[in-house]
Amino acid sequence: MPDAIPTIPLNDGTHMPAVGFGTYKLNGADGVATMVRALHNGYRLLDSAFNYENEGAVGAALRKSGVPRDEIRVTSKLPGRRHAYDRALATIEESLYRTGLDHLDIYLIHWPNPQTGLYVEAWQALVEARRRGLVRTIGVCNFLPEHLDRIILETGVAPAINQIELHPYFPQAPQRDYDSSHAIVTQAWSPLGRANDLLGHATIADIARQHGRSIAQVILRWQVQLGTVPLPKATSDARQVENRSIFDFALTAADMDTITALGRKDGRLADQDPSRYEEF
Ligand SMILES: NC(=O)c1ccc[n+]([C@@H]2O[C@H](COP(=O)([O-])OP(=O)(O)OC[C@H]3O[C@@H](n4cnc5c(N)ncnc54)[C@H](OP(=O)(O)O)[C@@H]3O)[C@@H](O)[C@H]2O)c1
Repeated sequence: MPDAIPTIPLNDGTHMPAVGFGTYKLNGADGVATMVRALHNGYRLLDSAFNYENEGAVGAALRKSGVPRDEIRVTSKLPGRRHAYDRALATIEESLYRTGLDHLDIYLIHWPNPQTGLYVEAWQALVEARRRGLVRTIGVCNFLPEHLDRIILETGVAPAINQIELHPYFPQAPQRDYDSSHAIVTQAWSPLGRANDLLGHATIADIARQHGRSIAQVILRWQVQLGTVPLPKATSDARQVENRSIFDFALTAADMDTITALGRKDGRLADQDPSRYEEF
Protein backbone atom coordinates (compact mmCIF):
# COMPACT_ATOMS: atom_id res chain seq x y z
CA MET A 1 0.00 0.00 0.00
CA PRO A 2 1.25 3.56 -0.67
CA ASP A 3 2.08 5.88 2.24
CA ALA A 4 -0.66 7.21 4.51
CA ILE A 5 -2.86 9.89 2.96
CA PRO A 6 -1.65 13.31 4.20
CA THR A 7 -3.94 15.36 6.42
CA ILE A 8 -4.87 19.03 6.34
CA PRO A 9 -5.81 21.30 9.26
CA LEU A 10 -9.33 22.66 9.81
CA ASN A 11 -10.28 25.97 11.44
CA ASP A 12 -11.51 24.16 14.61
CA GLY A 13 -8.12 22.63 15.44
CA THR A 14 -8.89 19.16 14.00
CA HIS A 15 -7.45 17.50 10.91
CA MET A 16 -8.94 15.77 7.90
CA PRO A 17 -7.43 13.55 5.18
CA ALA A 18 -6.52 15.39 1.99
CA VAL A 19 -8.61 12.91 -0.04
CA GLY A 20 -11.71 11.13 1.24
CA PHE A 21 -13.93 8.28 0.07
CA GLY A 22 -17.43 8.92 -1.35
CA THR A 23 -20.09 6.43 -0.27
CA TYR A 24 -23.18 7.49 -2.25
CA LYS A 25 -24.89 4.31 -3.57
CA LEU A 26 -22.83 2.02 -1.35
CA ASN A 27 -25.56 0.20 0.56
CA GLY A 28 -26.12 -3.16 2.21
CA ALA A 29 -23.57 -5.94 2.46
CA ASP A 30 -21.91 -5.04 -0.85
CA GLY A 31 -21.57 -1.47 0.35
CA VAL A 32 -19.99 -2.61 3.61
CA ALA A 33 -17.51 -4.80 1.70
CA THR A 34 -16.57 -1.90 -0.60
CA MET A 35 -16.04 0.46 2.34
CA VAL A 36 -13.98 -2.13 4.25
CA ARG A 37 -11.76 -2.42 1.16
CA ALA A 38 -11.47 1.36 1.01
CA LEU A 39 -10.32 1.46 4.64
CA HIS A 40 -7.83 -1.37 3.96
CA ASN A 41 -6.63 0.61 0.94
CA GLY A 42 -5.79 3.49 3.24
CA TYR A 43 -8.81 5.81 3.08
CA ARG A 44 -9.54 7.41 6.45
CA LEU A 45 -12.49 9.68 5.60
CA LEU A 46 -15.88 8.13 4.74
CA ASP A 47 -18.37 10.62 3.30
CA SER A 48 -21.93 9.52 4.10
CA ALA A 49 -25.29 11.29 4.59
CA PHE A 50 -28.58 10.61 6.35
CA ASN A 51 -30.19 10.51 2.88
CA TYR A 52 -27.74 7.90 1.49
CA GLU A 53 -29.42 5.41 3.84
CA ASN A 54 -26.03 3.83 4.53
CA GLU A 55 -24.98 5.23 7.90
CA GLY A 56 -25.53 1.72 9.32
CA ALA A 57 -23.30 0.26 6.61
CA VAL A 58 -20.63 2.87 7.37
CA GLY A 59 -20.64 1.91 11.06
CA ALA A 60 -20.49 -1.79 10.17
CA ALA A 61 -17.58 -1.22 7.77
CA LEU A 62 -15.68 0.74 10.38
CA ARG A 63 -16.05 -2.06 12.96
CA LYS A 64 -15.34 -4.84 10.45
CA SER A 65 -12.21 -3.15 9.09
CA GLY A 66 -10.28 -3.45 12.35
CA VAL A 67 -8.93 0.08 11.80
CA PRO A 68 -8.89 1.96 15.13
CA ARG A 69 -11.90 4.28 15.52
CA ASP A 70 -9.76 7.32 16.22
CA GLU A 71 -7.95 6.97 12.88
CA ILE A 72 -11.18 7.32 10.89
CA ARG A 73 -13.25 10.42 10.12
CA VAL A 74 -16.93 9.69 9.47
CA THR A 75 -19.02 12.40 7.82
CA SER A 76 -22.81 12.54 7.72
CA LYS A 77 -25.22 15.22 6.52
CA LEU A 78 -28.49 16.73 7.66
CA PRO A 79 -31.30 16.37 5.08
CA GLY A 80 -33.41 19.30 3.95
CA ARG A 81 -36.60 18.02 5.57
CA ARG A 82 -34.93 18.14 9.01
CA HIS A 83 -33.72 21.74 9.22
CA ALA A 84 -36.03 22.85 12.05
CA TYR A 85 -33.91 23.10 15.23
CA ASP A 86 -35.42 20.26 17.32
CA ARG A 87 -35.79 17.96 14.32
CA ALA A 88 -32.18 18.64 13.35
CA LEU A 89 -30.85 17.66 16.77
CA ALA A 90 -32.99 14.49 16.81
CA THR A 91 -31.70 13.64 13.32
CA ILE A 92 -28.09 13.93 14.45
CA GLU A 93 -28.92 11.63 17.38
CA GLU A 94 -30.55 9.22 14.91
CA SER A 95 -27.38 9.30 12.76
CA LEU A 96 -25.45 8.22 15.85
CA TYR A 97 -27.84 5.34 16.51
CA ARG A 98 -27.64 4.29 12.88
CA THR A 99 -23.84 4.27 12.78
CA GLY A 100 -23.53 2.81 16.28
CA LEU A 101 -20.90 5.45 17.06
CA ASP A 102 -20.80 7.71 20.11
CA HIS A 103 -19.82 10.74 18.02
CA LEU A 104 -19.58 11.68 14.37
CA ASP A 105 -16.39 13.37 13.26
CA ILE A 106 -17.96 15.69 10.71
CA TYR A 107 -21.60 16.77 10.30
CA LEU A 108 -22.70 18.96 7.40
CA ILE A 109 -25.95 20.62 6.32
CA HIS A 110 -26.63 18.81 3.03
CA TRP A 111 -28.29 21.69 1.09
CA PRO A 112 -29.19 25.25 2.12
CA ASN A 113 -32.74 25.07 0.69
CA PRO A 114 -33.06 28.89 0.70
CA GLN A 115 -36.75 28.96 -0.25
CA THR A 116 -37.58 26.79 2.75
CA GLY A 117 -35.45 29.24 4.67
CA LEU A 118 -34.53 27.25 7.81
CA TYR A 119 -30.80 26.84 7.28
CA VAL A 120 -29.83 29.27 10.07
CA GLU A 121 -31.85 27.15 12.53
CA ALA A 122 -30.19 24.04 11.16
CA TRP A 123 -26.79 25.65 11.68
CA GLN A 124 -27.69 26.59 15.27
CA ALA A 125 -28.57 22.91 15.85
CA LEU A 126 -25.19 21.78 14.51
CA VAL A 127 -23.44 24.29 16.78
CA GLU A 128 -25.41 22.86 19.74
CA ALA A 129 -24.65 19.26 18.67
CA ARG A 130 -20.96 20.10 18.71
CA ARG A 131 -21.31 21.69 22.16
CA ARG A 132 -22.93 18.48 23.41
CA GLY A 133 -20.12 16.34 21.94
CA LEU A 134 -22.35 14.52 19.43
CA VAL A 135 -20.18 15.75 16.56
CA ARG A 136 -16.62 17.13 16.41
CA THR A 137 -16.47 19.24 13.26
CA ILE A 138 -19.41 21.07 11.69
CA GLY A 139 -19.84 22.42 8.21
CA VAL A 140 -22.12 22.79 5.22
CA CYS A 141 -22.55 21.62 1.64
CA ASN A 142 -23.64 23.56 -1.39
CA PHE A 143 -23.65 26.92 0.44
CA LEU A 144 -23.19 30.05 -1.66
CA PRO A 145 -21.49 33.17 -0.24
CA GLU A 146 -24.87 34.70 0.66
CA HIS A 147 -25.80 31.63 2.76
CA LEU A 148 -22.40 31.53 4.44
CA ASP A 149 -22.46 35.27 5.20
CA ARG A 150 -25.83 34.83 6.87
CA ILE A 151 -24.97 31.92 9.18
CA ILE A 152 -21.67 33.53 10.17
CA LEU A 153 -23.37 36.87 10.87
CA GLU A 154 -26.29 35.37 12.81
CA THR A 155 -24.37 32.80 14.90
CA GLY A 156 -20.79 34.07 14.95
CA VAL A 157 -19.64 30.54 14.02
CA ALA A 158 -18.00 29.85 10.66
CA PRO A 159 -18.19 26.34 9.20
CA ALA A 160 -14.96 24.34 8.93
CA ILE A 161 -15.97 22.77 5.60
CA ASN A 162 -18.07 23.62 2.54
CA GLN A 163 -18.62 20.55 0.32
CA ILE A 164 -19.54 21.58 -3.23
CA GLU A 165 -19.80 20.17 -6.74
CA LEU A 166 -16.33 20.58 -8.24
CA HIS A 167 -14.72 18.96 -11.31
CA PRO A 168 -12.96 20.30 -14.42
CA TYR A 169 -16.24 21.35 -16.06
CA PHE A 170 -17.14 23.28 -12.90
CA PRO A 171 -14.00 24.56 -11.14
CA GLN A 172 -15.89 26.92 -8.80
CA ALA A 173 -13.20 29.64 -8.59
CA PRO A 174 -15.33 32.34 -6.89
CA GLN A 175 -16.71 29.92 -4.28
CA ARG A 176 -13.22 28.53 -3.59
CA ASP A 177 -11.94 32.08 -3.12
CA TYR A 178 -14.75 32.87 -0.70
CA ASP A 179 -14.16 29.66 1.27
CA SER A 180 -10.39 30.09 1.59
CA SER A 181 -10.69 33.76 2.57
CA HIS A 182 -12.93 32.61 5.47
CA ALA A 183 -10.62 29.71 6.49
CA ILE A 184 -13.22 27.21 5.24
CA VAL A 185 -11.89 24.08 3.52
CA THR A 186 -13.65 23.23 0.26
CA GLN A 187 -14.46 19.57 -0.33
CA ALA A 188 -15.18 18.45 -3.92
CA TRP A 189 -18.20 16.25 -4.59
CA SER A 190 -18.51 14.25 -7.82
CA PRO A 191 -14.81 15.04 -8.33
CA LEU A 192 -14.66 12.66 -11.33
CA GLY A 193 -17.83 14.10 -12.82
CA ARG A 194 -19.58 10.86 -11.83
CA ALA A 195 -17.52 9.13 -14.54
CA ASN A 196 -18.85 11.25 -17.42
CA ASP A 197 -16.87 12.11 -20.58
CA LEU A 198 -14.21 13.89 -18.49
CA LEU A 199 -12.58 10.49 -17.97
CA GLY A 200 -11.86 10.34 -21.72
CA HIS A 201 -11.11 14.03 -22.27
CA ALA A 202 -8.28 14.47 -24.82
CA THR A 203 -6.76 17.54 -23.11
CA ILE A 204 -6.55 15.84 -19.72
CA ALA A 205 -5.34 12.64 -21.42
CA ASP A 206 -2.38 14.60 -22.86
CA ILE A 207 -1.41 15.87 -19.43
CA ALA A 208 -1.88 12.39 -17.95
CA ARG A 209 0.46 10.91 -20.58
CA GLN A 210 3.15 13.49 -19.79
CA HIS A 211 3.07 12.50 -16.12
CA GLY A 212 2.61 8.77 -16.69
CA ARG A 213 -0.67 8.87 -14.74
CA SER A 214 -4.33 8.14 -15.40
CA ILE A 215 -6.89 10.83 -16.24
CA ALA A 216 -8.64 10.22 -12.90
CA GLN A 217 -5.36 10.77 -11.04
CA VAL A 218 -4.69 14.03 -12.88
CA ILE A 219 -8.19 15.35 -12.10
CA LEU A 220 -7.88 14.45 -8.41
CA ARG A 221 -4.37 15.92 -8.22
CA TRP A 222 -5.69 19.15 -9.81
CA GLN A 223 -8.29 19.32 -7.01
CA VAL A 224 -5.64 18.78 -4.33
CA GLN A 225 -3.41 21.50 -5.83
CA LEU A 226 -6.41 23.86 -5.90
CA GLY A 227 -6.47 23.38 -2.12
CA THR A 228 -9.65 21.29 -2.13
CA VAL A 229 -10.38 17.80 -0.77
CA PRO A 230 -11.81 15.40 -3.38
CA LEU A 231 -14.18 12.61 -2.30
CA PRO A 232 -14.02 10.04 -5.14
CA LYS A 233 -16.23 6.96 -4.94
CA ALA A 234 -14.83 3.77 -6.48
CA THR A 235 -15.75 0.12 -6.16
CA SER A 236 -12.71 -1.93 -7.17
CA ASP A 237 -9.44 -2.17 -5.26
CA ALA A 238 -7.60 -1.05 -8.38
CA ARG A 239 -9.59 2.20 -8.71
CA GLN A 240 -9.56 2.88 -4.98
CA VAL A 241 -5.76 2.62 -4.91
CA GLU A 242 -5.42 4.59 -8.17
CA ASN A 243 -7.52 7.47 -6.82
CA ARG A 244 -5.54 7.88 -3.63
CA SER A 245 -2.10 7.56 -5.27
CA ILE A 246 -1.79 11.23 -6.14
CA PHE A 247 0.70 12.54 -3.61
CA ASP A 248 3.91 11.53 -5.41
CA PHE A 249 3.67 13.79 -8.45
CA ALA A 250 2.78 17.42 -9.15
CA LEU A 251 1.06 19.22 -11.99
CA THR A 252 2.75 22.31 -13.42
CA ALA A 253 1.15 25.74 -13.23
CA ALA A 254 0.43 25.41 -16.97
CA ASP A 255 -1.27 22.00 -16.45
CA MET A 256 -3.38 23.52 -13.68
CA ASP A 257 -4.46 26.44 -15.88
CA THR A 258 -5.25 24.14 -18.82
CA ILE A 259 -7.55 21.97 -16.71
CA THR A 260 -9.24 24.94 -15.03
CA ALA A 261 -9.88 26.42 -18.48
CA LEU A 262 -12.16 23.43 -19.27
CA GLY A 263 -14.69 24.99 -16.90
CA ARG A 264 -18.07 26.00 -18.30
CA LYS A 265 -20.50 28.53 -16.96
CA ASP A 266 -23.22 25.87 -16.80
CA GLY A 267 -20.81 23.05 -15.98
CA ARG A 268 -22.95 21.47 -13.26
CA LEU A 269 -23.75 17.79 -13.84
CA ALA A 270 -27.47 18.05 -13.06
CA ASP A 271 -28.35 21.75 -12.93
CA GLN A 272 -28.36 21.74 -9.11
CA ASP A 273 -27.85 25.46 -8.52
CA PRO A 274 -28.16 25.91 -4.73
CA SER A 275 -29.81 29.31 -5.16
CA ARG A 276 -32.93 27.54 -6.50
CA TYR A 277 -32.47 23.73 -6.23
CA GLU A 278 -33.86 22.28 -3.00
CA GLU A 279 -33.33 18.74 -1.76
CA PHE A 280 -35.23 17.19 1.08
N1 LIG B 1 -22.92 17.00 -0.72
C1 LIG B 1 -23.55 16.67 -1.83
O1 LIG B 1 -24.56 17.30 -2.20
C2 LIG B 1 -23.04 15.53 -2.66
C3 LIG B 1 -23.60 15.30 -3.93
C4 LIG B 1 -23.07 14.24 -4.69
C5 LIG B 1 -22.04 13.46 -4.19
N2 LIG B 1 -21.54 13.69 -2.93
C6 LIG B 1 -20.43 12.87 -2.38
O2 LIG B 1 -19.37 12.84 -3.31
C7 LIG B 1 -19.00 11.49 -3.56
C8 LIG B 1 -18.39 11.32 -4.93
O3 LIG B 1 -19.28 11.74 -5.94
P1 LIG B 1 -20.02 10.71 -6.91
O4 LIG B 1 -20.12 9.39 -6.26
O5 LIG B 1 -21.24 11.40 -7.36
O6 LIG B 1 -19.10 10.63 -8.21
P2 LIG B 1 -17.53 10.52 -8.54
O7 LIG B 1 -16.75 10.12 -7.36
O8 LIG B 1 -17.16 11.75 -9.30
O9 LIG B 1 -17.56 9.33 -9.60
C9 LIG B 1 -17.88 8.03 -9.25
C10 LIG B 1 -17.89 7.19 -10.52
O10 LIG B 1 -16.57 7.17 -11.08
C11 LIG B 1 -16.15 5.83 -11.27
N3 LIG B 1 -14.70 5.81 -10.99
C12 LIG B 1 -14.10 6.00 -9.80
N4 LIG B 1 -12.76 5.98 -9.92
C13 LIG B 1 -12.51 5.76 -11.23
C14 LIG B 1 -11.30 5.62 -11.97
N5 LIG B 1 -10.11 5.72 -11.37
N6 LIG B 1 -11.39 5.39 -13.31
C15 LIG B 1 -12.60 5.30 -13.93
N7 LIG B 1 -13.79 5.44 -13.26
C16 LIG B 1 -13.73 5.65 -11.93
C17 LIG B 1 -16.96 5.01 -10.29
O11 LIG B 1 -17.14 3.71 -10.75
P3 LIG B 1 -17.10 2.40 -9.80
O12 LIG B 1 -17.84 2.74 -8.53
O13 LIG B 1 -17.76 1.36 -10.62
O14 LIG B 1 -15.66 2.12 -9.52
C18 LIG B 1 -18.29 5.75 -10.29
O15 LIG B 1 -19.07 5.36 -11.41
C19 LIG B 1 -20.31 10.73 -3.35
O16 LIG B 1 -20.12 9.33 -3.25
C20 LIG B 1 -20.81 11.41 -2.11
O17 LIG B 1 -20.13 10.91 -0.98
C21 LIG B 1 -22.03 14.72 -2.17
